[in-house]
Amino acid sequence: MDNNYKRVGVFGGAFNPPHNGHVAAADTAIRSLSLDKLLVIPTGSSPHKTLADGSPNGFHRYKMTQLAFSNMEKVEVLDIELNRSGPSYTSDTLKEITRMYPLAELFLVVGADMFLTVQDWHCPEVIFRLSTLCALCRESGQLDDLIDHKDYLMEKFNAKSIILENEAIELSSTEIRNKVRICVDSDLVPPKVLEYILENNLYIKRDDTYPKLAEVKNIDDFQNVVGEVTYQKALSHIPPSRKAHVEGCVSEAIRLANHWGYDPQRAATAALFHDITKSHNLEEQLNLCRKYGIIPRTVDKVSFPTLHAITGAAAARELYGVDKGVESAIRYHTTGKANMDRLEIILYLADYIEPTRNFRGAAEVRYFAYKDLDFAMMIALKNTIEEVCRSCRHLSPDTVEAYNFYLSQCIRKPY
Ligand SMILES: [Fe+2]
Ligand SMILES: [Fe+2]
Repeated sequence: MDNNYKRVGVFGGAFNPPHNGHVAAADTAIRSLSLDKLLVIPTGSSPHKTLADGSPNGFHRYKMTQLAFSNMEKVEVLDIELNRSGPSYTSDTLKEITRMYPLAELFLVVGADMFLTVQDWHCPEVIFRLSTLCALCRESGQLDDLIDHKDYLMEKFNAKSIILENEAIELSSTEIRNKVRICVDSDLVPPKVLEYILENNLYIKRDDTYPKLAEVKNIDDFQNVVGEVTYQKALSHIPPSRKAHVEGCVSEAIRLANHWGYDPQRAATAALFHDITKSHNLEEQLNLCRKYGIIPRTVDKVSFPTLHAITGAAAARELYGVDKGVESAIRYHTTGKANMDRLEIILYLADYIEPTRNFRGAAEVRYFAYKDLDFAMMIALKNTIEEVCRSCRHLSPDTVEAYNFYLSQCIRKPY
């Protein structure tokens, strides 16, 4: 980092998603203010407005912002607000940047609407002391209001401000969120951002991902879809004492799937078969491994409950012809793993929180499973690791990797 820069701009925003209007505004700011550097900073938890429902987490917004500005060499995208807990106050950000660039003059680039309310932000005097405000004027009709406000800020707060006439395209992130999924060749966002959005399935309206084959709202609907014979056959592998758990898991998987816009039929299928080899002892598990050509790792043999997930996945495939996704969800329902797909997460959590579960921590995970899947996974994995260690049992490396992964997902989010 060259901290001898003389003129450094600061441009914050939710960047949800970053669009061509932001890129044009950044370009205007760099040229008009002769900046040596423009720091682009996605907000963590904005005190001004909360993110729309279903918005990507801070990590994705940070990645998209990096891609959006990747062709502008004077731009650097910083994750300082995403890494800070509590509300993302601009005054705190400016203090941090002052420490990073002690010799620089700072220019805070804001949209016209924000400029008109800046005196009401948290610690405005700090903002005025540490930076010169630069209001981006997008419409000529706004100009008079902005000039009046500039005079008011100078008179009342001795605050320096500049008005930048920005020919930027009039774009709103809300409009783009609604359009981006249907305008694949859209010119609203930089191509790399669009590619990232599509690759990561961001901004999908619920129900877009997987077409539902049939309405499955509860366990009775599911029984009708799979048929009584298959349903009872699957349950015949389960000892009577565990049937309530499996049926609870099916119901919970349907609820979670419907809540998160996933196909409930697939989720319920994974739940129905997830424990079909659970009642087998170690010797029987090892026989199943031989039968299905599985070579278990030593750790899978010593952390014995793990084996039923491995053999159960193979048995569900061989006996019932479940697809690869369902097989994988069953395979990892006990240990978890890093970067699980939606079905794997739904089964893992359904198994953990279904209504008969009442162990320590289940209620907390149950609450978060309907609010934030990454956070629910992190808590469930943490509880599992604590419990395994407390009872001096072996821990699968898959669980450790899963915990590290979901912890990383969560610490990028503001809580
Ligand atoms: Fe299980
Ligand atoms: Fe289970």
